[in-house]
Amino acid sequence: MWERFFYCLKQTKMEQIYVFDTTLRDGEQVPGCQLNTLEKIEVAKALERLGVDVIEAGFPVSSPGDFKSVVEISKAVTWPVICALTRAVEKDIEVAAEALQYAKRKRIHTGIGTSDYHIRYKFQSTPEEIIEQAVKAVKYARRFTDDVEFYAEDAGRTNNEYLARVVEAVVKAGATVVNIPDTTGYCFPAEYGAKIKYLVDHVDLKDAILSTHCHQDLGMATANTLSGVLNGARQVEVTLNGIGERAGNTALEEVVMALKSHPEQGFETHINTHEIYPTSRLVSSLMSMPVQANKAIVGRNAFAHSSGIHQDGVLKNVETYEIINPQDVGIRDNSIVLTARSGRAALKNRLSTLGVTLHAEELDKAYQKFLELADKKKNIHDEDLLALIGKDAEAQ
Ligand code: KIV
Ligand code: ZN
Repeated sequence: MWERFFYCLKQTKMEQIYVFDTTLRDGEQVPGCQLNTLEKIEVAKALERLGVDVIEAGFPVSSPGDFKSVVEISKAVTWPVICALTRAVEKDIEVAAEALQYAKRKRIHTGIGTSDYHIRYKFQSTPEEIIEQAVKAVKYARRFTDDVEFYAEDAGRTNNEYLARVVEAVVKAGATVVNIPDTTGYCFPAEYGAKIKYLVDHVDLKDAILSTHCHQDLGMATANTLSGVLNGARQVEVTLNGIGERAGNTALEEVVMALKSHPEQGFETHINTHEIYPTSRLVSSLMSMPVQANKAIVGRNAFAHSSGIHQDGVLKNVETYEIINPQDVGIRDNSIVLTARSGRAALKNRLSTLGVTLHAEELDKAYQKFLELADKKKNIHDEDLLALIGKDAEAQ
């Protein structure tokens, strides 16, 4: 860890990775997760405290509720850029521009499908017509703001040569960010990274940056996003807890903490990582979307140690089994969970936090009783321990 830290100190400059949060747009598309406007404002304010660069607030043409939410979020939030999604359709773009009218800094995110599946089956169109429509949409969006992002939907399954032509054309038309979504979560990390590199090497991007937008269908969203960053993408599109269509989107907390944990890779974000856990809890509770216990960074077990060998190591030095300080992500402390797999060291430690010190022999006896109880009970609480050694909780 120290080597990485010193390496980082030696680095002249860390490269900025912009965090584009789409919890309120792609995340909110999850069935049963819909939020009302007040709840969306609450999440948007939490995202502002978290330090995201861009909040994708909604898809205004899709419903009056979405339109209103984008308007209200634009008024309520001042630091991040507020972004609204559109299809490559003039009406959508006009409605998005109207919804964004109060935003201090606004972005229109327009785009169209570029894979053969989308061109043939969704649009019954041709590759040339798609480029034409994309260019028209970007030029039209530029009438309302000079911050226009273009998405090439299903770029993950789009032929690289054609994708490069699309990207070149939309950048020429005025796109400042080009989003390369792996819409179906299909790519392998090396493949997605190579796609980004191909675009970096073959397109005159001028000042535009490339953005990752990965889905989790095969469980590779974070790996693909990081591969995109290592190959030249400078914006990452993410959601809290990885919520999103089907299996979800790339999880903000995973990408941010992966970059922070590896300073030798030379990237940084504006995220105030201490706000990660509170924001994760807020999103989970407002959206009624529980976080799986073993979810990286924010799951209940992410900093819980339950086996005796691990507990002994952590009690001697946390770095034996922890690569992140839980406080860095806003979690008060790690936890040593007492189970039938726990050892004497964990029991002794827990008892000492309860103000009980036992001599070696007493500890041996208590440990035998503890094991008997732990074989019967899934979770051992402090009250159980105190009862076990003949002290009640009141007395403590
Ligand atoms: O996954 C996707 O392609 C999207 C676009 C609409 C940006 O969410
Ligand atoms: Zn998406």
